[in-house]
Amino acid sequence: MTTPKALVAGNWKMNGLMTSVREINALSNMIEKNGAGCEVLICPPATLIHALSGKGIDIGAQDCHMMQNGAHTGDISAVMLKDLGCRYVIVGHSERRADHFETNDMVKAKAHAAQMQGLTAIICVGETNTQRENGETLDVVTSQIMGSIPEDAAVAGTVIAYEPVWAIGTGKTPTTEDVAEVHAVIRALLLNKFGTDGNMVRIQYGGSVKASNAKELMAVPNVNGALVGGASLKAEDFYGIITAYQS
Ligand code: PGA
Repeated sequence: MTTPKALVAGNWKMNGLMTSVREINALSNMIEKNGAGCEVLICPPATLIHALSGKGIDIGAQDCHMMQNGAHTGDISAVMLKDLGCRYVIVGHSERRADHFETNDMVKAKAHAAQMQGLTAIICVGETNTQRENGETLDVVTSQIMGSIPEDAAVAGTVIAYEPVWAIGTGKTPTTEDVAEVHAVIRALLLNKFGTDGNMVRIQYGGSVKASNAKELMAVPNVNGALVGGASLKAEDFYGIITAYQS
């Protein structure tokens, strides 16, 4: 069975200034010199997308509005992201679900807006600590997947990121068995939706990924890359994760 090429994406969140061009140039040099066994993407704050583009690293966005334009002060649309050369946008990150009260329906509308522009939506799902302790992980992830993937989504425009909320920025990670269990459930849902093509949808793991645990996480069945927060801010740290994907 063919497996999709892994996608290792950095989510800079609300970090980075114009001086961050240095990190992108450094990362680009490391990849040019030593290669990468995966696709590499950086999603900086929207303020930096233009400045960091065209430097040899794919640049994506962290969110988009569900409408393409109009009276939505402070928001950014998928059309605008495409105009800047983005090919990817993260939607439904747990911080947006929590801080901006984004529901599955809203995430689905955003993913749809992105896909209508030919962008690939990285749709994030994951349980909170309380949900995990209550044994609800698989139910929560299932309903987020069912509720957040647009009805007319295409395989090429869809990436799933499984990010347990309790593992984000905490240094804690689930066991590889737990990751395998959740990713197998997500794969089954994707096969159900897309038929055998569902095998080609990349399922990233995210939550405290760093160079020291990237290799064991990437070896888990149905893990096709990583979504990385803190460890993506410095080129050297991020490249340490990327090298885990070199065979
Ligand atoms: P972290 O964040 O790698 O800092 O845990 C991951 C994410 O929120 O995407």
